[in-house]
Amino acid sequence: MLIVVLGAAAGGGFPQWNSNSAACARARSDDRAARPATQASIAVSADGARWRLVNASPDIRAQLEAIPTLRPHGEDPLRGTRIDGVVLTNADVDAVAGLLTLREKTAFELHAHARVLDQLAANPIFNVVDRDLVPRVPLTLETATPMSNLTTTAFAAPGKVALYAEDDAAADFGSADGDVVGLEITDEQGKRLIYLGNCAAVTDAVRDRVAGADMLFFDGTLYVDDEMRARGAGVKTGRRMGHISMAGPDGAIAAFADTPIGRRVFIHMNNTNPVLLADSAERAAVEKAGWIVAQDGMELTL
Ligand code: MLT
Ligand code: MN
Repeated sequence: MLIVVLGAAAGGGFPQWNSNSAACARARSDDRAARPATQASIAVSADGARWRLVNASPDIRAQLEAIPTLRPHGEDPLRGTRIDGVVLTNADVDAVAGLLTLREKTAFELHAHARVLDQLAANPIFNVVDRDLVPRVPLTLETATPMSNLTTTAFAAPGKVALYAEDDAAADFGSADGDVVGLEITDEQGKRLIYLGNCAAVTDAVRDRVAGADMLFFDGTLYVDDEMRARGAGVKTGRRMGHISMAGPDGAIAAFADTPIGRRVFIHMNNTNPVLLADSAERAAVEKAGWIVAQDGMELTL
């Protein structure tokens, strides 16, 4: 299985358009230890011939241009691509806005849970993605679905409904199973990839699902839960946003410490997360704990 990290950052990217933080300023210079990152997405393929995108980031146009194999392809002088589908894990802006860029009359499959498809249907701007060419296929949880010569099973992940769809009057902001899914992607050789770019908690079910995987992509939004508040970058904690943090006794590193996983990769880092800086103590700590911090353009093979 071939995997390319199209984007490693959380919503907003790194640097974020309105951020004057020291880290974002470093990312705007040619500081090699502060490499810019676009909004989270990966591409996966069994054979390099057909590719499936996990999420459609607002940065998708530049992401696809940056990876030669994902540029237009084929004999047809007009149109062609190796991308035969997109699978969505949630309906947040950073996961779906790139669909608007994919509107130029090329066929591909769009898979997402009905909860996420409902959000697309409720936002008529997505009608620019022609349903006749881009069928919207509901993903049933715990059901293996063929995608691009791979098999994908979506499973309910701890998390919350998209930010713009939160219902302040409802319990858990009106979230339900399917608002956030993890993906288990397997190939014919039995290699198993788990993508959990948004995850609010490491439950026993999550740990069981991840155990024995060849590779895990996991929610790396924040290093510590109150990082945005501490930096004056916002009032929300990671918990409030539906993201478990990396560090500390309640963090993801500790939660997976005893779980066998081939390679463990953090993705969806917020611009406040110090692991984005290759010379930070936090990056060193994460790597010492056996984690890889995803970077745009990173290629991985299973
Ligand atoms: C998140 O991951 O929490 C969302 O992308 C937030 C947002 O839409 O800005
Ligand atoms: Mn996000």
